[in-house]
Amino acid sequence: MNPELPLTAPGKAADNLIVTLSTILHPLNLAGLFPVPSPLEVELGCGDASFLAEYARQNPRVNFIGVERLLGRLQKVHRKGSRLGLKNLRGVRIESSYFLRYLLPPHTASALHIYFPDPWPKKKHRRHRLINEGFPGLAAAALVPGGVVYLRTDDADYFEQMTAVFAASPQFQPDPTPEALASVLTDFERDFNAQGIPTLRAAYRLRS
Ligand SMILES: C[S@@+](CC[C@H](N)C(=O)[O-])C[C@H]1O[C@@H](n2cnc3c(N)ncnc32)[C@H](O)[C@@H]1O
Repeated sequence: MNPELPLTAPGKAADNLIVTLSTILHPLNLAGLFPVPSPLEVELGCGDASFLAEYARQNPRVNFIGVERLLGRLQKVHRKGSRLGLKNLRGVRIESSYFLRYLLPPHTASALHIYFPDPWPKKKHRRHRLINEGFPGLAAAALVPGGVVYLRTDDADYFEQMTAVFAASPQFQPDPTPEALASVLTDFERDFNAQGIPTLRAAYRLRS
């Protein structure tokens, strides 16, 4: 635990929903991030927070962290969350795998949301994909027992890779995506669906 990371007073929203990381050498002090301790869910590559802000609004008894590497997009976590008066939403500017591996304390997330991650369609670039053979292990270390990974993409090839790596992992079993979750669309999802491109969706539960 790192005592330097910001503490939020009980019942009070943070002034800026973007977390100021004073170090990336130690895991986050989750207890200091949110005014009310609650189960934690994380969206990796949260983009403009269209999904996350709305889903956090609908689930006030859950705390949410959005991880995003682009500052311009991350600032929308703050803008949208502040506009809605959310106390259960924070954003972190960092690379997703690094966040899972080094900043998120082990076995603390009850769900990971990964929606429309960059598909890296060229064969020689596929090694950059977030969901690869190593990902189920990273996700298992991040999740609480029974925690769930929720996946969405428009890219059939990437979807095949996602489902293959989770099918090969004995730690996970397929799980349905609740309708209340599926109905909250992301920014990219809205654009794709408007063009007639359907959402490919899967979810995997960590065995207890
Ligand atoms: C295609 S967009 C999807 C955004 C959002 N999830 C949605 O569905 O609207 C992918 C997002 O992930 C972010 N991203 C890509 N690779 C990342 C990484 N390794 N770490 C953190 N963010 C990443 C990008 O900056 C971008 O905002």
